Amino acid sequence: MNKKSILVTGGAGFIGSHLVRHFVKKYQDKYYIINLDKLTYAGNLENLKDIENYDNYKFIKGDIKDIELVNTIFEKYNIHSVIHLAAESHVDRSIENPLEFVTTNIIGTLTLLNAAKKHWKNDDDNVFYHVSTDEVYGSLGETGKFLETTSYDPRSPYSASKASSDHFVRAYSHTFGLNTMISNCSNNYGPYQFPEKLIPLIINNIVNNKTLPVYGDGKNIRDWLYVEDHVKAIDQILHKGKYNETYNIGGDNEWMNIEIVHKLCDTVDEKLGRSPGTSRKLITFVKDRPGHDRRYAIDSAKLKSEIGWLPETDFATGLEKTVDWYLNSQDWLENVTSGEYLNYYKKQYEQ
Ligand code: NAD
Ligand code: DAU
Repeated sequence: MNKKSILVTGGAGFIGSHLVRHFVKKYQDKYYIINLDKLTYAGNLENLKDIENYDNYKFIKGDIKDIELVNTIFEKYNIHSVIHLAAESHVDRSIENPLEFVTTNIIGTLTLLNAAKKHWKNDDDNVFYHVSTDEVYGSLGETGKFLETTSYDPRSPYSASKASSDHFVRAYSHTFGLNTMISNCSNNYGPYQFPEKLIPLIINNIVNNKTLPVYGDGKNIRDWLYVEDHVKAIDQILHKGKYNETYNIGGDNEWMNIEIVHKLCDTVDEKLGRSPGTSRKLITFVKDRPGHDRRYAIDSAKLKSEIGWLPETDFATGLEKTVDWYLNSQDWLENVTSGEYLNYYKKQYEQ
């Protein structure tokens, strides 16, 4: 059987590596997966060591903004569909350097859309799938949830760049007839997440007896989803979803940041044989993130009723798996934090 080529961008990052692994293993006879990744500080080929020799997998190091490279990939591999994840993904970095987010997240998406528009002429089942975020909808009060119809209200440079790229994806579908899909997902957690994000940062700092920085009053709320459940949702939307539609993906799993930090302290203390309460003493309330969104919550009713997706991993199980993975992956942690990240971390927390 002739395999269809799927171009995955950002496949060496956190969610991308789980997605590439899932697609390469599950669809060995159906898809040839081409992973285009620039390997920024957030991308690491160690995330994909276990599948690098599969016949239906190819890694290409490169930038999604490189017009010539992207067009060559479309031609050479006869790209059938794109699952686009490559992005600058960290809100704090977007506050420090918004321009990088504009170039990668907006211009990069445009470069891929243009290539799809150029190369996909008469085939009705090509799809450009954009992996996006719930942050495009802004911030919620104490009640309510984001629906697919909620107006966009991005409030950080990161979310503004993702909102813009969502708009361009829709514009290409409306103006040029490109088949597109967008999903907007809540906070992911799990193995291979770069330790600048809340959960791995806190685990890593607990292990190393460093202070645990909690922004503001620690009462900001996020909805957490285990990364493999996100990947399964993308798989199901790609195969069962409707073209030019948006699907919200969430875990029905809202927690205040401080509650998560407490859970992590207690879990790691127990696993490391430290006496109860030891790591909670490391908690330090620090200056709030500028413009910090108060609450995110996702209504995934459309995804559940139209596609039949449900999150499978409950928070206690997912958090324990995640903690175990980080405790057993000290080499990975050292590797991914040995470069540019150390300077960034010092600037953020150790001034
Ligand atoms: P990540 O930062 O872990 O990975 C991003 C990947 O993109 C890295 O491998 C990086 O090398 C690559 N990349 C960056 N710039 C590139 C460029 N110019 N060309 C090619 N590759 C480039 O991000 P993540 O957390 O895995 O998020 C992946 C996608 O999912 C992003 O688009 C993000 O907006 C979206 N998303 C993330 C979450 C979350 O909780 N992490 C939730 C919803 C949506
Ligand atoms: O909602 C989806 C989004 O989730 C994704 O689109 C983003 O790519 C992803 O980075 C994530 O954004 P957040 O800003 O919510 O994630 P982060 O892990 O940076 O922060 C989670 C919460 O924890 C947030 O309220 C800020 C807070 N925080 C974060 C860090 C890094 C702290 O209190 N201390 C910290 O040191």
